[in-house]
Amino acid sequence: MSVTVRVPAKVNVQLAVGAARPDGFHDLANVFLAVGLYDEVTVAPADELRVTCEGPDAAQVPLDRTNLAARAALALAERRGVEPAVHIHIAKDIPVAGGMAGGSADGAGALLACDTLWGTGASRDELLALCADLGSDVPFSLVGGAALGVGRGERLTTLDVGGTFHWVFAMADRGLSTPAVFREFDRLAQGRDIPEPTASPEVLEALAKGDPEALAAVVSNDLQPAALSLFPELADTLDAGRGAGALAALVSGSGPTTAFLTRDAESAQKVAAVLRASGRCRSVRTAQGAVAGATVV
Ligand code: C5P
Repeated sequence: MSVTVRVPAKVNVQLAVGAARPDGFHDLANVFLAVGLYDEVTVAPADELRVTCEGPDAAQVPLDRTNLAARAALALAERRGVEPAVHIHIAKDIPVAGGMAGGSADGAGALLACDTLWGTGASRDELLALCADLGSDVPFSLVGGAALGVGRGERLTTLDVGGTFHWVFAMADRGLSTPAVFREFDRLAQGRDIPEPTASPEVLEALAKGDPEALAAVVSNDLQPAALSLFPELADTLDAGRGAGALAALVSGSGPTTAFLTRDAESAQKVAAVLRASGRCRSVRTAQGAVAGATVV
């Protein structure tokens, strides 16, 4: 008997970042959109906890107890008083250290898969609380769709999405560490007044309307200057996507994946072809959003 859960990647259509808090985290107004690039997490009974991974980035995924999927299984097992004796297999398609919540997806996926396998019947609220302990983006990986995350990004309000948004994602040839990007944000913010992060009404309205041109005019990412400072070549990739007809080009979350919002599926294919031909990116993918969160398949 095994259980497989499919979990999407995310892009942030708004990422407003406040000043560093005493606990080192930053208050955010984080507008998440789940997009159709997926990891699949399969759990099956085993003698002891074990993690395996397949996919283009598999070599970069830790297979010990620091893996978010392993931590999710351990947390649920402890909460429910069961042995965490599972083999967790991750079929990884979301880029590692890419700013698309790949690790968070595996945490949410393993949690839902183990809950199903063990029949623990945890409530949605219990699962969300466990997700929030695992990481700031993990609750959104469970929920999917579109949501505003406040606090560290873990306190979610579901948002309406009135249509399909077509994206192109360009994966870089190396990753960026999220803590390093936040540290660079702090360094660049020194001596400046950082306003409280708030959700942009224009972003929420464009999502609700399903209007890509309106959304393109207002997408924003406060981590982008920090990501570009650590990875300056990304600016050329952003320019190349804009030149190919993308309505908007931005760094996805803490990067270094770059995200391009396009008018329709045809335009997405064109932007993807130009980016592929540029030879700048490790790989280029198209995906639509919003899509559902973690789902047992
Ligand atoms: O929550 P998570 O473990 O995914 O966060 C990874 C790192 O990103 C944190 O250790 C912190 O450095 C940074 N972070 C932050 N503020 C947030 C979320 C993450 O500073 N709201």
